[in-house]
Amino acid sequence: MADQTYVTLNDGNKIPQMGIGVYEVPDGKPTYDAVTNALKLGYRHIDTAHAYQNERSVGRAVKDSGIDRDQVWITTKLWPTEYGGGKTTAEIDKMLGRLGTDHIDLLLLHQQIGDYLGAWKEMEAAVKAGKVRSIGISNFESERLEELCEAATIKPSVLQVECHPYFQQNELKRRIAPYGTKLEAWYPLGHGNAGLMREPLFAKLGEKYGKSSAQVILRWHIQEGTIIFPRSTKADHIRDNLDIFDFQLTDDEMGQIRALDRGERFFNMPLAQQEATFMSFRPAD
Ligand SMILES: NC(=O)c1ccc[n+]([C@@H]2O[C@H](COP(=O)([O-])OP(=O)(O)OC[C@H]3O[C@@H](n4cnc5c(N)ncnc54)[C@H](OP(=O)(O)O)[C@@H]3O)[C@@H](O)[C@H]2O)c1
Repeated sequence: MADQTYVTLNDGNKIPQMGIGVYEVPDGKPTYDAVTNALKLGYRHIDTAHAYQNERSVGRAVKDSGIDRDQVWITTKLWPTEYGGGKTTAEIDKMLGRLGTDHIDLLLLHQQIGDYLGAWKEMEAAVKAGKVRSIGISNFESERLEELCEAATIKPSVLQVECHPYFQQNELKRRIAPYGTKLEAWYPLGHGNAGLMREPLFAKLGEKYGKSSAQVILRWHIQEGTIIFPRSTKADHIRDNLDIFDFQLTDDEMGQIRALDRGERFFNMPLAQQEATFMSFRPAD
């Protein structure tokens, strides 16, 4: 399998461009096995969150793999109930305990609500204290994106949002460019949406390159410069998803995929509803 690529962030850290996500993967054996398998296959980047409630299994799998901790990139995310007023600092220490590590590679604000400015100050302090290497944001698509970026001393290294061929986020990419912030795609495969996965163009290109439709979509993200971490618990999909570094889509093919953009999100919640819904959830320690 050809080597994967890295993206240099605005703080100089290098993140593996391809990882595995563990959203909705239960804690315990399912998460442990998926991460263990991925690490054996060559993955070096795992995307979790406190809200996913599986950080302990991620940490155990990394430790048991025997791979040097500095060779594995772990991203996790703070939930809005953990923002500001000293709570963020305390939560970071709890995260380190759950992950069984002395540092977090990338820590994100999971949602654009609550005391995000207070949380960001505490995250900056955690970078200075050596507990966190890079900090970033997720789901900031309102004007709160610019508000946070302007207030920040350390500019967000990444913005993690929904992004796939039906929802390509070109406007958001323009908004984060002045801060040197890189785009990370969640739902890179549209959360497995059948319409997207069966799009004839991907089947056609897959036939040309001897790849599946999923591999063509992931390759498109890579050539767009986007950081991705598709989720799978199936061994063959985990293997295939990393096997995308031995072919290259042409400029014309990239253009054909760009033309599929139709502004279609698979997850949509207005800001007011986010405030009510997300603040009423409290992830267990
Ligand atoms: N920041 C946020 O708010 C946020 C929100 C959502 C997600 N995320 C992150 O983004 C990651 C990815 O998002 P996601 O898991 O929701 O969606 P996704 O990666 O776009 O899609 C996952 C689905 O695609 C299927 N799949 C994976 N590889 C495949 C392949 N090679 N061929 C066919 N089907 C394949 C999986 O099924 P199988 O298991 O059967 O392979 C699963 O049903 C998450 O795990 C999480 O880390 C972040």
